[in-house]
Amino acid sequence: MPRDATGHLTIGRVSGPREVPGFITRPEYVGKAAPTPFTGSNVKTPEQVEKIRAAGKIAARAIQLVGEACKPGVTTDELDRIGHEFVISQGAYPSTLGYRGFPKSLCSSINEVICHGIPDDTVLIDGDIINIDITAFKDGFHGDSNVTFIVGQAKPEVELLVERTHEALMRGINAALPGRSVNIIGRAIETYAKRFNYGVVRDFTGHGVGEAFHSGLVIPHYDSAPHYADEIKVGMVFTIEPMLTLGTHEWEMWTDDWTVVTKDRSITAQFEHTIFITEDGPEILTLA
Ligand code: MF3
Ligand code: CO
Ligand code: CO
Repeated sequence: MPRDATGHLTIGRVSGPREVPGFITRPEYVGKAAPTPFTGSNVKTPEQVEKIRAAGKIAARAIQLVGEACKPGVTTDELDRIGHEFVISQGAYPSTLGYRGFPKSLCSSINEVICHGIPDDTVLIDGDIINIDITAFKDGFHGDSNVTFIVGQAKPEVELLVERTHEALMRGINAALPGRSVNIIGRAIETYAKRFNYGVVRDFTGHGVGEAFHSGLVIPHYDSAPHYADEIKVGMVFTIEPMLTLGTHEWEMWTDDWTVVTKDRSITAQFEHTIFITEDGPEILTLA
């Protein structure tokens, strides 16, 4: 059902809500149409950073566990169940569940899906690539990460896209030095991606993260100078999450109002880390 005659993905069937035990604290936006706008700082105290690191570790371990299950024959709904169960087993809340009405505990974005795919009855097949994006909320703080996995073996050009998208993330991270503008990050990513003629998605960005899932600070993945010139400050915490494509950077939204696909249906990959800026440079907070 969820692929058409040309092999492209189509809207699937979404299972009913999964339970979260009552003792697990929900983010404030759950049950509301939208989060309360964040008015705090993107610079965190050492105590706050350790809470984001703890949440980030849960997200990273959940992603690893889900990644091990990304084999031909599994549904994305089953992947959601695995991620959900792990996150709640750690006493954490899966931040996407109920975020602006998102119905599931992770985003599963296959092939031409750029981001925000909803887990459903889609069955993985050999040669797919699938991004698993999990955010955990624990002790009042979110940690946000994602990884693109290859299902079985993919075409060489697709495997290269995945490897280079990870490299683009690492180059973006390494460019995030205190005193620079945040637009240095996208410059590093786009410069690298352009070597291979990849599309660099512009309209979905990295973001400040911490007490809020999305703080309002925007981190573009393309060279946005002279715009997005916020200074990278010691103590800042934000995500970097480049989306690169084998074709256009342009996108379309499915009628579910979540699933974002490449306009030309070209294959797209993404990787994400939450990072913390120290005097010596960036530190990754989403390590397993
Ligand atoms: N985790 C995604 C990000 O990296 C956000 C997902 S929001 C959702 O920012 F509602 F789509 F789940
Ligand atoms: Co993010
Ligand atoms: Co994410």
